[in-house]
Amino acid sequence: MMEKSRAAELDALFAAAAEARRNAHAPYSHFAVGAAVSSASGRIYTGCNVENAAYPSGSCAEQGAIAAMVVAGERQIADIAILGDAPHPVMPCGACRQRILEFADTRTQIHAGNMAGLRLSLRMEELLPHGFGRDSLP
Ligand code: THU
Repeated sequence: MMEKSRAAELDALFAAAAEARRNAHAPYSHFAVGAAVSSASGRIYTGCNVENAAYPSGSCAEQGAIAAMVVAGERQIADIAILGDAPHPVMPCGACRQRILEFADTRTQIHAGNMAGLRLSLRMEELLPHGFGRDSLP
């Protein structure tokens, strides 16, 4: 069988993020976000933002997707797509950059997108330069 093209792979990842975004619980910000992680095995894990009446208790879409990957026993993010309805591609917040770093390597790509189809793909070092990661601990 022919290998899926990179473009088709990314389209599938964004489609999974869009599907997850439909379940976002964002009654306070009204900003629904979906995320999809593809792991070393090629499986896809998704998450959406889950807000809370006690605002700081809410969680980001990336957080949910990464947790689902870890629950399944996987530890390596190949690609992660983040999707929201904004004029520009929706970038991971600072805390989520740190969460992604935990399971990233030099090949990991982070793909920010919006509903109009704008996309921006970055590597970890571009998204969080000089980050504090696993290698930073003695
Ligand atoms: N949000 C995410 O889910 N991921 C991000 O990286 C950016 C922000 C959510 C958190 C909150 O529920 C809403 O978007 C507005 O900040």
